[in-house]
Amino acid sequence: MPSERPIGIFDSGIGGLSVLHHVRNLLPAENLIYVSDRAHLPYGNKAGEFILNRSEHIAAFLMQRDVKAIVIACNTATAVAVAHLRKHFSLPIVGMEPGVKPATQKSRNGMIGVLATEGTLVSGKFRSLVEQHSNGTDIFYCPCHGWVETIEHNGAAHDKTYKMVERELMPLLEKGVDTLVLGCTHYPFIKDTIQQVAGSLITIIDTGEAVANQLRRRLTEEDILSPSLPPGREDYWCSASPENTRQLIEKIQGRPCVVKRLPQQDC
Ligand code: DGL
Repeated sequence: MPSERPIGIFDSGIGGLSVLHHVRNLLPAENLIYVSDRAHLPYGNKAGEFILNRSEHIAAFLMQRDVKAIVIACNTATAVAVAHLRKHFSLPIVGMEPGVKPATQKSRNGMIGVLATEGTLVSGKFRSLVEQHSNGTDIFYCPCHGWVETIEHNGAAHDKTYKMVERELMPLLEKGVDTLVLGCTHYPFIKDTIQQVAGSLITIIDTGEAVANQLRRRLTEEDILSPSLPPGREDYWCSASPENTRQLIEKIQGRPCVVKRLPQQDC
């Protein structure tokens, strides 16, 4: 039965807004609840158990708000927690996956670079993704130290961003990669800088749109697409200061929003 129940989307911070953007474009009538776990950011250098606990906690909070589906808009949390959450919660759960497969298909010289957090790169889920799709492609990795924190503090444009991207990307570019995978939902916010550093001949792969398509497929299969007319509502929740988060979200989205603090037991 079509349903006006909301869709829950979460990330360690504002990165998942790059996914919410595609979800909103594709599903303008859906009500969305976005949770940013900024008090515990970054996830990328934390123990798997910690990320698993946070993901379970946030999923339980979203379930209390009667969501009909969950999007884990975080590659790191997906790598660690998606199987566990699917076992524990019986609703469609859509996760992120670094675009290794499309990158190997698009690369002309068989050399690609994956930009992701340490947590994603060392996960078993990512290792098996690479085993499944590498097919003789040379894959180089970049753990992008400090990128998530810089994007959280400065948004997309900042003097320091170019230097930071250049420093981390150079080793990959010197190897000769012709395709780069954005394996963290924060990185689309600095895609222009990445392109500037890498040069216009480098292809950049982001899976945000593919994830929104996958969400629509799952809602269609379950017959729970919203019957309402657009625009759907958007509610924002955060485990850190709602005021800072509101300012950052408004800067990114260019429209006003209200951000509430997660209840104490969920922070
Ligand atoms: N946006 C998250 C991801 O896609 C960032 C993880 C972090 O907080 O380090 O992995």
